[in-house]
Amino acid sequence: MDSREIVRFDDDRAEYCLEVAADDCGIVIFGASGDLTRRKLIPSLFQLYRRSLLPEHFFILGCARAKLSQDSFREIFRTVITVEATESEKLQEFLRHFYYFELDYGSAEDYRVLSTKLQELEATHGTGGRRIFYLATPPSLILSITEGLGREGLSRESSGSGQWAHLVVEKPFGHDHASAAELTKALSRYWQESQIYRIDHYLGKETVQNIMVLRFANLVFESVWNRQFIDHVQITVGEADGVGTRANYYEQAGALKDMFQNHMMQMLTLVAMEPPANFTADRYREEKLKVLRAIRPFNPENVADYAVRGQYVAGTVEGNAVSGYRNETGVSPDSQVETTAALKVMIDNWRWQGVPFYLRSGKRWNRRVSEIAIVFRGVPHSMFGLMTPEQLTANTLVLKIQPAEGMGLMLEAKRPGAKNCMSALSMDFDYRDICKDRSPDAYERLLLDCMASDQTLFVHKEEVDLAWSILTPVLGAWQDPNGSSPLHFYPAGECGPAAAEDLLKKDGRSWRRL
Ligand code: BG6
Repeated sequence: MDSREIVRFDDDRAEYCLEVAADDCGIVIFGASGDLTRRKLIPSLFQLYRRSLLPEHFFILGCARAKLSQDSFREIFRTVITVEATESEKLQEFLRHFYYFELDYGSAEDYRVLSTKLQELEATHGTGGRRIFYLATPPSLILSITEGLGREGLSRESSGSGQWAHLVVEKPFGHDHASAAELTKALSRYWQESQIYRIDHYLGKETVQNIMVLRFANLVFESVWNRQFIDHVQITVGEADGVGTRANYYEQAGALKDMFQNHMMQMLTLVAMEPPANFTADRYREEKLKVLRAIRPFNPENVADYAVRGQYVAGTVEGNAVSGYRNETGVSPDSQVETTAALKVMIDNWRWQGVPFYLRSGKRWNRRVSEIAIVFRGVPHSMFGLMTPEQLTANTLVLKIQPAEGMGLMLEAKRPGAKNCMSALSMDFDYRDICKDRSPDAYERLLLDCMASDQTLFVHKEEVDLAWSILTPVLGAWQDPNGSSPLHFYPAGECGPAAAEDLLKKDGRSWRRL
């Protein structure tokens, strides 16, 4: 066991808990006046503080271009973080660790001053020269910041004195295969891979982490988790929201880059991977990489056989009339950007040969729902009179990622009454039944792991590279104005276009009803 891990074993509840312990450190947030910092980073850090999971010695230094005094910076977060009256003193204490630094991202001089400021804060707070540099900025600033830090020697580590420097990078990692490779190369100038923490917030979700526990802490699943028993897998992430205020970004991205290159591919690897020898970053990421390497390349000639794209037009979502994508503020009136994508992915390895993984994700669907459905094969023979094997519902294990977090197993069962009356029922469990407390936000997990130097739930550069290379033929075909892969339209409030249904229909299957 690592000396930085805290273990609790509760005999009565037969509960085994392991938690990482954060090292004393300073957290430097670039983009400190931005949306991500307000909505996610600071509230998550406060939750860690409340739960006594932040280290004893820490400080938070916000950096941004805005002119702000230290007091007004603290004031912003006093209003952003919602607390019970009983915890307002706690919040005050937390905010005393906050500092602000006005930074011109392109100015070498400013990084020099930042370096001095960090040394002062480290002396005040006793954080031992351990630093997290969190890039909560638009991607266009990544290089100026990482190079500015690098030139000032702020990426240097010293194992002897226990000093480390971690760089946290948010998606998107590049906008295509080539730009991602360039970014990786540019980062490597000053930063080692072991210092880079690439965020995919899906990996921090409790329900996504549960895929590992479910698969590898139970015996019953492993023996059926393969091509002999599984017919296919469906991974769905649907959102009721549209693009909101992010049209500028989304017009350059679309569903495939926004959701598939990262979250969808990550979930696929977790379902498909072999058991790692242990739950450490190297072993775990190695197994995910093997899955990505085994994905059958899409043939650019017949992309339409595997990939479908759609865009929403006006419709009704959750009882409200909403406008079409092309009418959203900031969207081009003839935009070709896909707001829903569906893919059929094949994995060429021993375990999964012949088992399709169907992936779909989109915006402006009927509701927000994310789930992974493992659909088992049907029974080989029906002994129940007129019922054919096809009429019996195939067992399906549904991992409910959000919003109703939990799990369900669809089984065929006898209904009391008639001599032979069968129907499908779902054996469900809801996370709220095992844990009454609020489920931590994904960012709490990821921030804490970063402070404990644990890269398990962060994305390796090779994963980024492989995910881009898998999707490149599809992106190429969709960008080709003479290509044979049309953009389909669907009314807001439906789960993508009819063509997404056809993707499964031609294989004799159908998407689960949401
Ligand atoms: C982000 C995408 O990575 O994930 C967004 O950029 C998307 O477009 C979001 O809405 C979904 O995350 P969650 O946690 O709400 O499912």
